[in-house]
Amino acid sequence: MQIKQADALVFFGATGDLAFKKIFPALQSMEQIEFFDMPIIAVTRGGRRKEDLLDRVRKSLETHGGGVDEAAFGRLADRLRIVSGEYDDPATFRKLRGALNGKAHPVFYLAIPPSAYAGIITELGQSGCAQGGRLLIEKPFGYDVASSRELNRAIHQVFDESDVFRLDHYAGKLPVQNILLFRFANAFPEAFWNRQFISSIKITMAESFGVKSRGRFYEEAGAIRDVLQNHLFLVLALLAMEPPAGTDEEALRDEMVKVYKSMRPLTADDVVRGQFTGYRREEGVAPDSNVETYVAVRLFLNSWRWEGVPFFIRTGKKLAVTANEVLIELRRPPRNVLSGAEPGQANRLRFGLGPDLSIAMSAMIRKPGLNWELEDVEMVACREASVEDEVAAYRDLLRSAMLGDTVPFARADGVETQWRVVEPVLGNVTPVFEYEPGTFGPKEADRLVEASGGWIPPQHIQYS
Ligand code: BG6
Repeated sequence: MQIKQADALVFFGATGDLAFKKIFPALQSMEQIEFFDMPIIAVTRGGRRKEDLLDRVRKSLETHGGGVDEAAFGRLADRLRIVSGEYDDPATFRKLRGALNGKAHPVFYLAIPPSAYAGIITELGQSGCAQGGRLLIEKPFGYDVASSRELNRAIHQVFDESDVFRLDHYAGKLPVQNILLFRFANAFPEAFWNRQFISSIKITMAESFGVKSRGRFYEEAGAIRDVLQNHLFLVLALLAMEPPAGTDEEALRDEMVKVYKSMRPLTADDVVRGQFTGYRREEGVAPDSNVETYVAVRLFLNSWRWEGVPFFIRTGKKLAVTANEVLIELRRPPRNVLSGAEPGQANRLRFGLGPDLSIAMSAMIRKPGLNWELEDVEMVACREASVEDEVAAYRDLLRSAMLGDTVPFARADGVETQWRVVEPVLGNVTPVFEYEPGTFGPKEADRLVEASGGWIPPQHIQYS
């Protein structure tokens, strides 16, 4: 990896939700580990004063950053500068150029609604600010194939792909990264990681909360665009990919993109959408909205390793629990070895995807008693996560971007290919079934997994 350390961080969207929840805590954490030696410039609209912004930073740290560390906060406050102005006004970018004061490798971080991306990127180019710089952007990267291509085109007119960092925060989660390491830093998983031993893979991302105050955003997204096309496809790619062919910076992303390319585009038959009762009464939501707050899909890969193995993904808001996990179902033993001993369920491997890191393996063992009875036990290895770990996950993604390490970020071709998979089922191609909050979504989703042992209740439940 060629390290090209950034020398300034410019971010748009300092008063937004993302800055409040993730960015300010990450910046405090960077101060704590003394990573910084550069100015931070917040571009804000509406002439916001620095004191007001610092009040907001404090609140953010109290709520999401594990508290205010006064020494780190002080350093952050000294480093922070404000450039105010409208995002579509060339004068704002002239001011920004002045504030950058000749810095050679600024990172421009767009933590703003995607509708403003293209305009800001063009202004960064025209004002000369972008020269030598790099771009860090949050999902969504477009809303279908055509718009993601269009966004990539606008980006590439100003930035080289090697200077573009598309941030999917799932890529920073240790339990998600752990899938890759479990598979390739140990030799034994490869022995059973294929269609001969694995009968299906089920991924659940359940959230017990609703759309919170994000009704307006959610109306434009729905579960498919919000989390399936990005976070959950990323998890699937890590589960399904081949070992990277080398250690150069593109090797890993090449393999992930190959998985996206091997995914068969979804058909209406592979998808069940749901909407929780009451969604239409949420603020910012149309009273006749057909946007899905739940989706379940069945996916197949055109792949030597996975031919015939279904991958199931389900995700939804206002479900019974908040739980995020992968369940790998292994095939049953070929026959009973002792009369009376039922082989029972298939063996399973579970990966808890956060915040705790857990791996669990189920096995059939001898049950006490006269007969050859068996029981199912699960061996669990778990490392509990703290608030600091959560903050550090995001911090380290930002750090990677500032160091110029593209590995944990989505690549243009990967994103376009992900959209190709979901595009046939975007919009109202399939019906939306209503489900009651506190359930596991519409019962219509059961048909997808009928032939594969049904949905299994998640074990890795988060209590908040
Ligand atoms: C975001 C989605 O990208 O990821 C949210 O917009 C979702 O709807 C969130 O709740 C889940 O991320 P995490 O890290 O809180 O599990």
